[in-house]
Amino acid sequence: MPAGIARGAGGCARGGRAPVHARGRRRARPRAARRSAGIARVSETSPAGLDSALEAQLEVRTLQYPDLPEVLAIERRVFPTPWSLAMFVLELSKQTGICLAATEPVEGAPREPGEARRLVGYLICSRYDTVWHIMNVAVDTDRQRMGLASRLLQELYARVGDDGARYTLEVRCSNTVAIHLYEREGFRAAGTRRRYYQDNGEDALVMWRTPATRAGSLEDVPNVGGQ
Ligand SMILES: CC(C)(COP(=O)(O)OP(=O)(O)OC[C@H]1O[C@@H](n2cnc3c(N)ncnc32)[C@H](O)[C@@H]1OP(=O)(O)O)[C@@H](O)C(=O)NCCC(=O)NCCS
Repeated sequence: MPAGIARGAGGCARGGRAPVHARGRRRARPRAARRSAGIARVSETSPAGLDSALEAQLEVRTLQYPDLPEVLAIERRVFPTPWSLAMFVLELSKQTGICLAATEPVEGAPREPGEARRLVGYLICSRYDTVWHIMNVAVDTDRQRMGLASRLLQELYARVGDDGARYTLEVRCSNTVAIHLYEREGFRAAGTRRRYYQDNGEDALVMWRTPATRAGSLEDVPNVGGQ
């Protein structure tokens, strides 16, 4: 956890909340259900793994203060102990951070110009010294498993624009969905923080994405095992 961030604050670094799906309150929607939502998850995917129909409609841009009501609504849907408005405001105020919003057109709304768009996911990342800390990633419940989180992460890497950049995050050991996502993105577990989450005393897995982890080793990761 970077200096200056209180234990219990922070997205993936959060204490005090378990993802809904990790608590058995959400099950991955069957593939057929995804199709009936109008966006088929087919083999034709973009490099980020995003469904091509969704890719055509999706916009990933900088997250802004006026987005926060929609952000909070998603936050409350996907996490039982969500971040407060103040926590998002603090993150958005940081000059060195990268905060992203994924939006899609509102169904049935007139296309162009000034079409109504719905926020479907967001990512909050702060830089501390030379390391990028992913603080929060979430995708709305009806848009999960379509490649959106991967697309947000691709945009983050592109904006950082440095192949040698190092990224880190904390995730609940029980959050297997997020752990799969991060592993697929080249993150590797490098240690745990014992009883990191205050609500249930769960450990956090500390994960890093670095040039070494992407090549299958932890050699450029600091404090391996003793995070
Ligand atoms: C974790 C989360 C952000 C993933 O978002 P997403 O847009 O559904 O993820 P993607 O569709 O980009 O999935 C990418 C990979 O993640 C993993 N993944 C995503 N959903 C999964 C699921 N339900 N079961 C297993 N693996 C899953 C898979 O490896 C997947 O790749 P694949 O589809 O090729 O197998 C989303 O589930 C979410 O918002 N969860 C609640 C909030 C949360 O836990 N945030 C992380 C805090 S650290």
